[in-house]
Amino acid sequence: MAVLLSTKAATMAMWRDALLAVDPTLEIRMFPDAGEPADIEAAVVWTAHDMAELRRYPNLRLIVSMGAGVDHLLRPPGPPPGIPVARLVDRMLTTQMGEWVLLNVLRFHRQDLEYRAQQRDRVWLELDAPVTAERRVGILGLGELGTHAAGLLRGLGFPVMGWTRRPRQVEGVETFHGADGLAAMAARSAILVCLLPLTPETRGIVNAGLLARLPRGAFVINGARGGHVVDADLLAALDSGQVAAAALDVFQPEPLPPEHPYWSHPRVVMTPHAASITIPSSAAPQVVENIHRARAGRPLINLVDFSAGY
Ligand code: GLV
Repeated sequence: MAVLLSTKAATMAMWRDALLAVDPTLEIRMFPDAGEPADIEAAVVWTAHDMAELRRYPNLRLIVSMGAGVDHLLRPPGPPPGIPVARLVDRMLTTQMGEWVLLNVLRFHRQDLEYRAQQRDRVWLELDAPVTAERRVGILGLGELGTHAAGLLRGLGFPVMGWTRRPRQVEGVETFHGADGLAAMAARSAILVCLLPLTPETRGIVNAGLLARLPRGAFVINGARGGHVVDADLLAALDSGQVAAAALDVFQPEPLPPEHPYWSHPRVVMTPHAASITIPSSAAPQVVENIHRARAGRPLINLVDFSAGY
């Protein structure tokens, strides 16, 4: 039996080495060189892989996302019926995302865009002191990533709120849920951070309606998926001053076309879907564990709940 990898060639080579370091007996194939379709027992794939293609493997037992997100696997046509999908729950992914959120919260909180502009213009001018305890941060999504980011922000002294689909308690975090909760949290979020999974319910959640509820001059940070943000609405809010600035790591489509207004917007800080990058050597043990469990018919770990969409 063999494990099929599918992503960029250089990344596949890293995954191959990482998986073999955990279990040297695995046979690894790299797409498109899948070999005999009946050999493939597990597919470890990233966003560009065509789900319809996985229907060619009659003995496929497991699909694994190479990232924390699985929206790319669930969109139509979706995985072959009956085949479980696992995502990565990985300390290094969580740590990197926490750092990226902190970087951007602090960038906005400490008026870094203003000070950079002043430096460019050789302006010596002290701005008002930022008061951490008064800069309320609202996090959309309190899963692995959101809960970790919330803890880091609390540690720095920011008041932290969090919104989830279903009621959820997280120590030290004021939590909200449902449509009313979303509006209530937005109204108090000086900084709004999106770390939600992308599902039909969360697509376009950062839209004109939500942005209008933020306190004037709020900041928006999106490390989740481009599909969460209605770009025209965010650009309008930035241009009107309703939103003071945005930090965006994810876009729709990716790569973002060179003519897109975000690239040159003075109040947009971009990274190219690089906030949190999977490190195969860190993620490989849980993938191998799942391959072994699938072979033995034991319960899998980090499974996606198809009904929830993540
Ligand atoms: C990155 O976007 C991931 O889903 O891990």
